[in-house]
Amino acid sequence: EQGLKTKTMGQTIYFYEETDTTNNRARELALEGASEGTLVVAEKQTAGRGRRGKVWESPLGTGIWMSLVLRPQIAPTEASVLTLLCGLATAEAIEAETGLSAGIKWPNDILINGKKAVGILTEMDCEMSEVHFVIPGIGINVNTASFPPEIAEIATSLYLECGKTVSRRRLVHRVLERLEEHYETFLRTGGFDAILEDYRKHCITLGKEVHVLGREPFFAEALDITPEGELLVRRADNGKEEVVFSGEVSIRGV
Ligand code: BTN
Repeated sequence: EQGLKTKTMGQTIYFYEETDTTNNRARELALEGASEGTLVVAEKQTAGRGRRGKVWESPLGTGIWMSLVLRPQIAPTEASVLTLLCGLATAEAIEAETGLSAGIKWPNDILINGKKAVGILTEMDCEMSEVHFVIPGIGINVNTASFPPEIAEIATSLYLECGKTVSRRRLVHRVLERLEEHYETFLRTGGFDAILEDYRKHCITLGKEVHVLGREPFFAEALDITPEGELLVRRADNGKEEVVFSGEVSIRGV
């Protein structure tokens, strides 16, 4: 791929005009042995998936709908950090390409001026103690000019926020370059520590009151991100500190 400065990320690309979801294609390719950094991109998804069973609108030609194949040698419990790395890489790429300020709503929604422009859905194939592969799926509303009425209040695109068309190709390259750097650091240091400071700087959840929607919902103040990528909160009802896991909850309030 011309102009892409990475060693592995996106060095093999599968492009689809239309597919159900790039996460499914990436999973199939991974099961067939696709190598680390293999990228799947689609112009349109007919069954784009969001977190917690939601639909992800993926219209033709205006967004970046992409999934990667990663093969880190880590335990399944360490994998949630990868999804945070993808969020950070995407936020940095957007800022570099558009000059906009991209805030991360923990764990990895990206908001611009308070509205969501990016969603990330990470899926994984693993045993109890060993990860086979991880598929981060990144959806970026790039040049979308308008949204369906039911999401227009909460969703936005880079185009709507910065007022100019953004090159999807260049943005994909930037995401891959930022991600490769963070991923290498993660593998080399065995953790999230080295990147935590940058993540904190982008994280708009910290210091806010959040509504933690688990089995027993509660209100809390978001205090910090742990080295494992989890959210440390102080409960409003009893003042106790608690760690919230990204897989378990939805955070409302920012
Ligand atoms: C969310 O915020 O709920 C996550 C949305 C993730 C969307 C991306 S688009 C590429 C990949 N394919 C999918 O079907 N979902 C992810």
